Amino acid sequence: MTDTDNQLRHLAIIMDGNGRWAKKRGLPRAMGHRKGAETVKEIVRAAGEMGVRYLTLYAFSTENWQRSEEEVSALMDLLRQYLKYDLKELQENGVRIIFIGERRMLDDDIIRQMAHLEEATAANEKMTLCIALSYGSRQEIVSAAQKIAALAKRGDISPEDVDIKMFSDMLYTKDMPDPDLLIRTSGEQRISNYLLWQIAYAELFFTPTLWPDFGKEELASIIQNFNQRERRYGKV
Ligand code: IPE
Ligand code: IPE
Ligand code: MG
Repeated sequence: MTDTDNQLRHLAIIMDGNGRWAKKRGLPRAMGHRKGAETVKEIVRAAGEMGVRYLTLYAFSTENWQRSEEEVSALMDLLRQYLKYDLKELQENGVRIIFIGERRMLDDDIIRQMAHLEEATAANEKMTLCIALSYGSRQEIVSAAQKIAALAKRGDISPEDVDIKMFSDMLYTKDMPDPDLLIRTSGEQRISNYLLWQIAYAELFFTPTLWPDFGKEELASIIQNFNQRERRYGKV
């Protein structure tokens, strides 16, 4: 295998551990999220510098709606701040931003700002930053199945037409390659309804570091570890 086999085109991250970071310091959970938002900025910049073409960050899951109203509204306020601040930085760094997830669950002003950022950065080519917001992978897969069923019912396709490519094209991530590497911070070793279809052959990396403590040095060392792995895709 040559080095180029391990090209890291798409990095996906489950940014976990904000609450525990705050708890360890006797702070409210919202402070952990605030610190975590700073880590987001550092990692977006670092990933671009390291040549990552697609970066997908899990910011809020469909299940996270079940958290307390206080925590959800703190997270939404942080999101508002992030969406406002970010355009200049995204433009300067050639970053295109896209969002995946159930948008209609979010407040109108947030939905509008998301659409605005997507439009304003659509021509940027250095890196695509994909934010998974109100995202759930099972829901995404079910909605793909619904779209396909509707096409079949209309007679536009027949069952034999359904294949991996068509199914992938019905997902939110249709224009992106599958993740090559998935990192989860905070020590939990689970996927929590993230990109279930897309990570079929991703390399997984779990680090005990809490997200607010994560940084570019650790990212670089994880990428180094990834580069040494042998991806076999079922072959020998
Ligand atoms: C990740 O940190 C951020 C979100 C899920 C929104 P958590 O809030 O899950 O932090 P822990 O896991 O409770 O430490
Ligand atoms: C996954 O973290 C979701 C995000 C990081 C946005 P959670 O903290 O919600 O996951 P569980 O509950 O530990 O599985
Ligand atoms: Mg968590």
